[in-house]
Amino acid sequence: MHDRLHKRHAPPVAHRRRDAALFLWKWIQAPTRIGSVWPSGRALGRAMAAELDLTVPGAIVELGAGTGPITATLLQSGVPPERFYAVERDPGLAAALRQRLPGVRVIEGDAGELPALMRAEGVETVSAIVSCLPLVSLPRALVRRVIEGGFDVLHPEGRFIQFTYGTISPIPLRHFRLQARRVCRVWRNLPPAAVWRYTRIPGEPVARDRG
Ligand SMILES: C[S@@+](CC[C@H](N)C(=O)[O-])C[C@H]1O[C@@H](n2cnc3c(N)ncnc32)[C@H](O)[C@@H]1O
Repeated sequence: MHDRLHKRHAPPVAHRRRDAALFLWKWIQAPTRIGSVWPSGRALGRAMAAELDLTVPGAIVELGAGTGPITATLLQSGVPPERFYAVERDPGLAAALRQRLPGVRVIEGDAGELPALMRAEGVETVSAIVSCLPLVSLPRALVRRVIEGGFDVLHPEGRFIQFTYGTISPIPLRHFRLQARRVCRVWRNLPPAAVWRYTRIPGEPVARDRG
């Protein structure tokens, strides 16, 4: 069963090379929005999938899906396709993702508008957000919309899972009240990455006062 899923979602080497070339080209055009020169590796996807709690009801939403390496690994790891949505803002990357992973619901849109995107899909609650967005290089106002909008749609026990290449929390905790935990480091990724998990502090608003 696992092998069948693996074959269905694992792109062949020729596709991986083409995806890497497309991704590099997109990075040259908009480095701060793409945030990485190469698509992520499977080990990082597995580490993010390990943070999901599928018993929490709602959709699983990936933000910044790119050419889909994390998408493919999430699905191989058992995320039910009928609960899954991939959000990607770049039209060329969204088109490549649809071609690579037919049957996956790809939303071409801005992760900063997540509540509206989910409403348009008829999704009422989100179980987990798996974010591949380069939060540290995106404009501060967009990061605020991503985090506030994300926690608006997240189930109270939902998780916001984020990777980063840096050593500190990629969500600036001086601006947000969240429980934050660096859950692992993935050395088998280029560059090595860390996975962070964020959850609500019960009874506390997520946004701190703007200062
Ligand atoms: C670091 S790449 C990750 C791509 C892929 N998930 C991976 O791990 O290889 C970040 C992705 O976020 C996308 N992105 C950046 N800003 C976005 C936004 N506001 N809404 C949706 N996607 C965005 C970029 O186009 C890019 O594909």
